[in-house]
Amino acid sequence: MFFSDHHTKFTKRIHAPPQAVLDVLRDPHAMMGLSPLIISVTVDPQDSTKYTVIDRLAMPFGTTRMISYGATIVVTAEGMDAESKAGAGTTTRSRYVARAISERETEVEEQVHVTAFFLLLPFIKGVIASAHNLTLDRLAAKAEGSCKRPAGYLYLDTLVLFLRKQMNLLSVLPAVLALIAVYWMAKRSSADPYGDFHLALNKLPGEDTPRTEWLNMGYWKVPLALKLLQAAGCKPGGRVLDVGHGSGESLILLLTHPDVPRPAHLTGITSLESHYTRSQARVARLNQTVPVDLYAGDAIYRPGSRNHPIDPSSEQPKFDTILALDCAYHFQPRAEFLRQAYDRLNPGGSIALADICFAPGALQTRWTRFVTMILRLGLMPAENMISTDEYLAQMRQVGFIDVQLEDITEDVFPKFISFLATQGVGWWIFSRVFNIFWGSGARFVLVSALLRH
Ligand SMILES: C[S@@+](CC[C@H](N)C(=O)[O-])C[C@H]1O[C@@H](n2cnc3c(N)ncnc32)[C@H](O)[C@@H]1O
Repeated sequence: MFFSDHHTKFTKRIHAPPQAVLDVLRDPHAMMGLSPLIISVTVDPQDSTKYTVIDRLAMPFGTTRMISYGATIVVTAEGMDAESKAGAGTTTRSRYVARAISERETEVEEQVHVTAFFLLLPFIKGVIASAHNLTLDRLAAKAEGSCKRPAGYLYLDTLVLFLRKQMNLLSVLPAVLALIAVYWMAKRSSADPYGDFHLALNKLPGEDTPRTEWLNMGYWKVPLALKLLQAAGCKPGGRVLDVGHGSGESLILLLTHPDVPRPAHLTGITSLESHYTRSQARVARLNQTVPVDLYAGDAIYRPGSRNHPIDPSSEQPKFDTILALDCAYHFQPRAEFLRQAYDRLNPGGSIALADICFAPGALQTRWTRFVTMILRLGLMPAENMISTDEYLAQMRQVGFIDVQLEDITEDVFPKFISFLATQGVGWWIFSRVFNIFWGSGARFVLVSALLRH
């Protein structure tokens, strides 16, 4: 008697052929990736229709709350059916149906049926109305082939687009936002934009101490580090170098995660002394047996630096795997790091980088040149602003073989941006700047390659 039902329906006319719409609708990961609420999705290894989902809900007074729940998703001929069972007995059933209007136009209808505790229902209705409309807008953007940014609702983005399209006033709003963000970051740290702000971002609601210390943009399905290690094809018993490890979460993953082949020796380089010290303490606390050598300093060997792990004249054994997780775009320049890494890899060894570059052609536009000019103020040296094609060519030029580049932008930037937007005013501004960066052609990629045997 305390539970009430609510039925509602959302429709969206999409300017794309029915098949393009169905391709997205019938891909559960892609669909959940479009939701502004969902921040993590894990599929049940025994049953591919069952998922564990984590949502971040906006609560009153600007607070947020994470909720985890189970969902079942069944792909149908017309789209998909989803059922989720969240806390407090809330059950939500959604049926997505795509109907052809013409060869180039499709209508998607989403029928939603919620059963919930009657006092919660008004809140749930509000969440559903905004989140499901936004998901449909993003579905439309993706199917129409223009999923460069979360659509609708983001008034600033809409205004920026308007200024760009109608008045060609390139600089007004993004410039102000970007400068505020750069100034804000510069204030936090003089040389390196990093510090200990990531500890607060890793905290789950209600926790005083974060359980992890990731400092990357995230893959949001599994830790980005696991995805990178897969690309690197790490083998057990290898000598691994982890570059730009921050406060050490990836080192801990390499030393303890059950799915990661355990290295025989682990070396780390990271630029900030405070991260180096913190990583040393965290690794020591693990009480494990793999020898670990950490080095505080630049990823690139400069003449005069002592005991640098990729000093070309080092007599230490070479590495089997070199990893750079969300950091190589900072290196001055990245190409020099790649050359030095190549020289310090064993034959058959591998390198893998989770990195940022640009869509082919994007760097030719005035707009992107303007955005990148701002980034050069501290985040990314000009030499590192290359396209995906140039990145591949650079790797081959260094001598790497079997060079692979996987574009995972759509699994990284949207969730990273939505997450930051919920973390207070400073991060919200940063999320808007980052959104502009994404819209100007930035791509998040996994690059991997081998050294010839
Ligand atoms: C985005 S964070 C990623 C940290 C870590 N890999 C992770 O995933 O949590 C970038 C890291 O690279 C480090 N870094 C930046 N420039 C560097 C450089 N030139 N040499 C070595 N490390 C650098 C930063 O201090 C920071 O820890």
